[in-house]
Amino acid sequence: MIDAIYHRRSTRHFIKKQIPADVLEDILNAGIKAPSEKNQQPWRFVVVQGTERKNVIRCMKEGIRRNRAGEGIFSKYPQFIPSAVYTTRVLEQAPCIIFALNALGYSLDYEKDTAEALKESSDIQSVAAAVQNIALAATDNGIGSLWTCDIYFAYHELKAYLGVEGEPVAAMALGYTDREVPATPRKPLSDVVTYKGEPLPETDQ
Ligand SMILES: Cc1cc2nc3c(=O)[nH]c(=O)nc-3n(C[C@H](O)[C@H](O)[C@H](O)COP(=O)(O)O)c2cc1C
Repeated sequence: MIDAIYHRRSTRHFIKKQIPADVLEDILNAGIKAPSEKNQQPWRFVVVQGTERKNVIRCMKEGIRRNRAGEGIFSKYPQFIPSAVYTTRVLEQAPCIIFALNALGYSLDYEKDTAEALKESSDIQSVAAAVQNIALAATDNGIGSLWTCDIYFAYHELKAYLGVEGEPVAAMALGYTDREVPATPRKPLSDVVTYKGEPLPETDQ
């Protein structure tokens, strides 16, 4: 699995090859092995394949259209629209899209207090852990993946389309690829890690 961590790449080109059902089930099983706060397992998944994918693309296009028209959640950020358009093209190519939802999430119009916001944060972390397991299991099976949050451009459209309990967290595009994807750079550990203290000698533990 450590190998998968180092070899996973965000894949934005997929070939027309379906993912076998047993492989998909293995990938989803890896998802639900993730840890979750109080083992509440707030994740829900919707797997979209075949002609159904057209409905996802329809939702994305409608969401992007509304944002362009100044009516969407991200209307304030027109600079992000090209990214959403690009992500939609990737989703269109992917033979399989897994939506991950937080069944314990609050609807967007609900005004959360601080405790509720923090509780929601831990549930989203639990769902994200499952999404990462899905990405790693896909890599392990020779399948490319793209974690997408540009789906938020069509938050309302997708939530209505998915029709299951929960708030959308992310969509994972999955498929085989025939392209090598280079690794993206990372900030060095020295930029992102702060150490406090030093390990005690074993005898003083
Ligand atoms: C929460 C999250 C949301 C992301 N959303 C998108 C997206 O909507 N579209 C996209 O092309 N990439 C998206 N990405 C992929 C990132 O751009 C990518 O992980 C990053 O550039 C590092 O590249 P790597 O995954 O190949 O290591 C997302 C990644 C994460 C973790």
